[in-house]
Amino acid sequence: MARFSASPLVIFPALLCMLVLSRADVIRMPSKGSSFDGEEEAGTSWAILVAGSSGYGNYRHQADVCHAYQILRKGGLKEENIVVFMFDDLANNRLNPRPGIIINHPHGQDVYAGVPKDYTGKQVTVKNLYAVLLGNKSALDGGSGKVVDSKPNDRIFIYYSDHGGPGVLGMPNLPYLYAEDFISLLQNKYESNSYKEMVIYVESCESGSMFEGMMSEDLKIYVTTASNAEENSWGTYCPGMIPPPPPEYSTCLGDLYSVSWMEDSESHNLKLETIEKQYQIVKARTLNFNTSNAGSHVMEYGTKSIKAEKLYLYQGFDPSNANISDNNLPQTIMPSEVINQRDADLLFMWKMYEQLDNNSNNKTEILEEITATMKHRLHLDSSIDFIGKLIFGSIKGPSILRNIRSSGQPLVDDWDCLKSMVRIFESHCGSLTQYGMKHMRAFANICNSDISLDAMEGACISACGGYNSAKWSPLSHGYSA
Ligand SMILES: *[C@@H]1O[C@H](CO)[C@@H](O)[C@H](O)[C@H]1NC(C)=O
Ligand SMILES: *[C@@H]1O[C@H](CO)[C@@H](O)[C@H](O)[C@H]1NC(C)=O
Ligand SMILES: *[C@@H]1O[C@H](CO)[C@@H](O)[C@H](O)[C@H]1NC(C)=O
Ligand SMILES: *[C@@H]1O[C@H](CO)[C@@H](O)[C@H](O)[C@H]1NC(C)=O
Ligand SMILES: *[C@@H]1O[C@H](CO)[C@@H](O)[C@H](O)[C@H]1NC(C)=O
Repeated sequence: MARFSASPLVIFPALLCMLVLSRADVIRMPSKGSSFDGEEEAGTSWAILVAGSSGYGNYRHQADVCHAYQILRKGGLKEENIVVFMFDDLANNRLNPRPGIIINHPHGQDVYAGVPKDYTGKQVTVKNLYAVLLGNKSALDGGSGKVVDSKPNDRIFIYYSDHGGPGVLGMPNLPYLYAEDFISLLQNKYESNSYKEMVIYVESCESGSMFEGMMSEDLKIYVTTASNAEENSWGTYCPGMIPPPPPEYSTCLGDLYSVSWMEDSESHNLKLETIEKQYQIVKARTLNFNTSNAGSHVMEYGTKSIKAEKLYLYQGFDPSNANISDNNLPQTIMPSEVINQRDADLLFMWKMYEQLDNNSNNKTEILEEITATMKHRLHLDSSIDFIGKLIFGSIKGPSILRNIRSSGQPLVDDWDCLKSMVRIFESHCGSLTQYGMKHMRAFANICNSDISLDAMEGACISACGGYNSAKWSPLSHGYSA
């Protein structure tokens, strides 16, 4: 695969800038169109927005995605070119204090109005995501039928917000999205020669592990992730934290990396701001300016030369920001208090518990759910620890499971092995759940040590033999996902 040579890239952004201005003229005065004959068309900007979770406790992921949709629309992308995946169980959720409305900032306006219901509920699947990116309508299973029917000169922006774990991103319907499959999806798209360049933003725990050691620099795709391969990403605008959501909200409104890029895009002139500059700004804020508040390390992968381009090529341009100069207004953004994505649903359930009337039956229900959730987490943690000790011995087991490969290496060499190990574990020990995705590294390390599936099965039976997975039913009361 040919790498970009340096010289076209230097002139490229400037050239495109002129072209887009020219096109605007063309739209107003069609008679002038012929004077641009022979010049390169600027191409169409496409986007895919994915919220990979469901449930009111995960409010923030769908709020992020709705907000992104509004930014792109204000920027002039057409609805027909933006494909939205969201479970869509929030706006009319009985727990939503503002029916029909979703916000993504403590003082935020509604971001739900107008968001297209392309793929909702059971249609939010890995399979449909593949079909949409590859533009393959016959592979779709339900939904609006909208796909990315991109041409060689088009640009594509993908934004994903969800829970994740080492090597995996969540989906509200199983299966999850494994890193190897996502990378080969991108490879397929590249081989179809149907885009010019692509930018991907991913927020989830361990999101760097989706690309680390696997993402080629030659696919004309630039990626940034909320966290590196081995750390959490963080929810923000959470109840009881600074800054807090309006008091009637019991759930977090956003995620730190996600609100960082979106609030940056909204307040800048995207015809002047480069992708590189946004990366630097988002990196600083997502690390919480290196204060004592927690944060994560934004990472970048893929074709770095794309960073020199202006953001409007992917996110559009809002004319009301036209007079903002690139010599940024001083940053007035303060560090935010945040919560580990994996504890955000517990925080939510506790807030619900505290807010309910003391003699409400629902109070007992929530308490039961908190207890069941905690028990299932302990069960997952302890059975994985036990399996590690059975396989590798009680001294070495825990450290082998936690082993982190050096950077530049993928999580696991044999991804089919990883999937099989997860399947075996879940069949004996119950669903991993979005919390349990954090243990993907343990399964990966079992594969990296060439442990057989039979040996794994034996260990799972010993660890979880009498476990009744029906004891934990996450959707029983509808509070958690
Ligand atoms: C589209 O999907 C269908 C069904 O999965 C598959 O048979 C076909 O080969 C795909 N087409 C392309 C061009 O990938
Ligand atoms: C954050 O601060 C620590 C010390 O407080 C320093 O060692 C580290 O380099 C800083 N990291 C960044 C990215 O600024
Ligand atoms: C930008 O500045 C020009 C010239 O001062 C002015 O005419 C225009 O209305 C301004 N646009 C916006 C969106 O503020
Ligand atoms: C519930 O009871 C506790 C202690 O009895 C009290 O402090 C709290 O204010 C009550 N909460 C509500 C919502 O009534
Ligand atoms: C309590 O739960 C029931 C269903 O289980 C629901 O209809 C009702 O609205 C809930 N009440 C509150 C205050 O959440």
